[in-house]
Amino acid sequence: IPVEPFDLVIFGGTGDLARRKILPGLFRRFCDGQMPDGARVIGAARSEMDTAAYRVTVGEAIGEFGGDSAVDCDAVDAFLERVEYQAVDAKGEGGWEALRGLLRDGMVRAFYFSVAPSLFGDIAERLRSFGLADAQSRIVVEKPFGHDLASARSLNATLAQHFDEEQIYRIDHYLGKETVQNLMAVRFGNMLFEPLWNAQFIDHIQITVAETVGVGGRGEYYDKSGAMRDMVQNHLMQLLCLIAMEPPSKFDPDAVRDEKLKVIRALDPIDYHQLVRGQYGPAGDAPGYREDVGDARSRTESFVAMKVHLSNWRWAGTPFYLRTGKKLRARDSEIAVVFKDTPHSIFGPEAGQHRNVLAIRLQPNEGMTLDVTIKEPGPGGMRLIDVPLDMSFADALGPDAEAPDAYERLIMDVIRGNQTLFMRGDEVEAAWAWTDPIIEGWQSRGDVPKPYDPGSSGPEDALMLMHRDGRRWREIK
Ligand code: BG6
Repeated sequence: IPVEPFDLVIFGGTGDLARRKILPGLFRRFCDGQMPDGARVIGAARSEMDTAAYRVTVGEAIGEFGGDSAVDCDAVDAFLERVEYQAVDAKGEGGWEALRGLLRDGMVRAFYFSVAPSLFGDIAERLRSFGLADAQSRIVVEKPFGHDLASARSLNATLAQHFDEEQIYRIDHYLGKETVQNLMAVRFGNMLFEPLWNAQFIDHIQITVAETVGVGGRGEYYDKSGAMRDMVQNHLMQLLCLIAMEPPSKFDPDAVRDEKLKVIRALDPIDYHQLVRGQYGPAGDAPGYREDVGDARSRTESFVAMKVHLSNWRWAGTPFYLRTGKKLRARDSEIAVVFKDTPHSIFGPEAGQHRNVLAIRLQPNEGMTLDVTIKEPGPGGMRLIDVPLDMSFADALGPDAEAPDAYERLIMDVIRGNQTLFMRGDEVEAAWAWTDPIIEGWQSRGDVPKPYDPGSSGPEDALMLMHRDGRRWREIK
């Protein structure tokens, strides 16, 4: 669906995120015909350069990160025609008047803050004081949104001085992933699942986001965050919300976000024994976490696993097991809904235990599998086996149906003025309010994360977390 003509200003327009995600994503939208005539992208950053030089760097970024569509050079040139650059000083006066001069009236105006969080307040203030933003303008704020509850509150308060909540788009790129949105389609678009979607029929739910990458060049940021702040407080929490929330009355921003907020607020405080922290060690020549971040005594976690409960009617007694980590065996993210056993087996004990499992594969190999129990074919009597009903998006939609990158979808939603897939201020605060005591608990106890081997499934204790309950994690593969 085409959007209205827009001026999109990217603060941090020369930075890593702009080069890797935002600009190539906009280019792909352009190739798909979603950037109407008159839509423009304005890079803004500290470096002094002219538009011609900026276009060269944007062209390079598209070549490197644009995917197959970047092969069409005519399109690249046509896209670059839409790109401008203006140097600005986020903490000073320089460049703001000129930037205002570039903006046109009658267009959707969006400002993307792809900069260090310490600059969010300065930029928001200057957008107002130099008259760049009006009541229709939108700002897009990248994570991390605060470091804890206090800093998130203060950031919300600062932004609120200059913008209304309806103008603030807090990005969690997991919400832009096709498969994550599909969670809502599966739950609320089918009659099949929702009647069973509760503690009466579901034994437990597992959420795994496993990565193979380490912290690489991001050590300085990551070592102050750890997996809890970097992944759980935002991405995993959002997945939990979508899987656990009550059906919203309609698919609109506040209806959806109200329900998500209720999930976060229903989370029980977490018991120390239900938490496992891990840190990857070295392997052969490959450096371990501590070498990666340059601190031989770092106690920051690169892995976390936990068992959480929601205190509400729907989920009373059903545990949710969450885990995420770096340098694990495979890049494998999925949500598995494990149903209870049938109340009585007519086939006797020799038929064994069988369970339906609905696994939603978020990435890679996006798709869904539903394990169903059937009779093992053959004359051997009534023997039961579990077989998957397997759907992959690539097969179902055809190999050419390339899912848009999360950022593409989200940026277009900003232009459309649709906040459904963005976090509201109270949601972010509630998420910090739940994670803060966990992190404080680790700090006050001087907790040392358990080492784990790169390429493994994380520390042994994480396996025990489920074994103790007579359950086991699904394999990371
Ligand atoms: C980011 C985290 O938000 O998400 C990274 O800061 C992490 O540490 C990344 O690697 C994972 O995103 P994706 O889309 O690759 O699953």
